[in-house]
Amino acid sequence: MAEPREFDEKSFTQDVIDTFAKCQNLRLKQIMTEVVMSLHELVRKLDLTMEEWEFAIDFLTRTGQISDSRRQEFILLSDTLGVSMLVDAINNRAPPGTTESTVLGPFFVPGPAARNGDNIDVGEKGGAPTFVDVVINDLDGNPISDAQVDVWHSDEEGFYDVQYGPDAGFARRARFTAGADGRVYFWSSLPAKYPIPDDGPVGQMLGAVGRHPWRPAHLHFMIEAAGYKKLVTHIFVRESEYLESDAVFGVKQSLVDEFPHQPAGVAPDGTVMENPYRSMTWDFRLPRLDQLPKAA
Ligand code: BEZ
Ligand code: FE
Repeated sequence: MAEPREFDEKSFTQDVIDTFAKCQNLRLKQIMTEVVMSLHELVRKLDLTMEEWEFAIDFLTRTGQISDSRRQEFILLSDTLGVSMLVDAINNRAPPGTTESTVLGPFFVPGPAARNGDNIDVGEKGGAPTFVDVVINDLDGNPISDAQVDVWHSDEEGFYDVQYGPDAGFARRARFTAGADGRVYFWSSLPAKYPIPDDGPVGQMLGAVGRHPWRPAHLHFMIEAAGYKKLVTHIFVRESEYLESDAVFGVKQSLVDEFPHQPAGVAPDGTVMENPYRSMTWDFRLPRLDQLPKAA
């Protein structure tokens, strides 16, 4: 009978990695090896106490227990630790000139089809009337026709329609299809800053390390067109608080807009506005799939 190996804090890591030797899936084998190496290194570096280990297990257990199909606490954990933005960046490497991406977030559901000129600020609690006028272009500035453009944003109190309850209808959410000119324009309302759900373990973590749960005001876009790289991004409101301390690290300088104030009068789509309103224009640039850098 073979003798069991002498336990050694350092060489033990290789013993665990060796148990993956027969794994046929080479990517899985690589991931498991790196996870074990990083975890063991962390435990050694921190001289982790039994109490700290138990706390971590309890934290992860509670993170799972509070999650369901409507609440994804693990994604919030990934978001607040910057992992989501890192994965997003690695998966969205694109040529210069491409509109930058940012996190999808948990509040996307496909919205109802809408047409150019529609007002999607249905229901109560909308902020200042806002005219949004965007164009979907390729990297040379040529319009991409038939692009599908999903938009969604919060009300003036910082809530999304999906947070109103299971029976609430759509509000401030829609799916447009760009015409041959690549243009999509609609009316809605100015989004507001809001805290990410902070009544669970992630909120406790933020409090414990002295962080706030707020995100700056933003308008979400998801743009898809055949033959082009899908774009998931937001446009942030310049005047909003928390641009420099977004709880999920989602802000990029190139994605901030003034949402300029406009005087009462005839809006670009011909709507007569009796009161001042806000506006937002944007030139989204998407690379063709064959323009993407080759994976290393
Ligand atoms: C959002 O922008 O909708 C969002 C993103 C990450 C976490 C929570 C919300
Ligand atoms: Fe959001």
